[in-house]
Amino acid sequence: MSTRNPALLAAAILIPMGAFAQTPNLGMPISEEEISAWNIDVSPDGTGLPPGSGTAIDGEPIYAQKCALCHGVNAEGGISLPLVGGEPLTTGIDAIKTIGNFWEYSTTIFDYTRRAMPWLTPRTLTDDEVYALTAYLLHINGIIEEDEVMNAETLPQVQMPNHDGFIVRYPELMP
Ligand code: HEC
Repeated sequence: MSTRNPALLAAAILIPMGAFAQTPNLGMPISEEEISAWNIDVSPDGTGLPPGSGTAIDGEPIYAQKCALCHGVNAEGGISLPLVGGEPLTTGIDAIKTIGNFWEYSTTIFDYTRRAMPWLTPRTLTDDEVYALTAYLLHINGIIEEDEVMNAETLPQVQMPNHDGFIVRYPELMP
């Protein structure tokens, strides 16, 4: 058979494409509820934040119980990263980057903590606990007061110290 024959070439292409139309009938439909359990991303502007709330006062004991083991008392670092402070980033490339001196959006603290922390048992925190921990981390970085309530409306309004410290590396690729 010569693949120079256009009819045969078309057949050779069409047969495998046709195979995609048939499925092996595996799997089952997934419900909206099941999808929503996995669909937990929070955008920088707060889109996707769930109901619930918390303050730094609520978050302090949760931090002590579930986070201090790795991140240290007062989040100053332990066997894992510090979550507070840090030198000004202008001191050089090796400056330690934290929520306080580096993170651009407050909402990332919520998203990251909810999906990834505590490191050994992620997805075990309630949304209220995540709001409280987010408030605690913002408070110890000097960004909000200890009794400020963080929820889906207030958290996106918190301006991070380094919010304007980013530059676009490839401006020509921006929309
Ligand atoms: C068993 C150790 C452990 C515990 C407990 C733990 N973490 Fe972490 N945490 C880590 C490690 C390791 C990383 C870095 C993960 C990586 O870079 O992939 C991290 C990263 C983080 C970061 C990102 C820091 C940055 O600047 O990149 C945040 C925020 C954070 N943890 C919050 C928490 C909170 C809040 C808790 C408590 C609910 C917690 N962690 C409990 C080990 C832990």
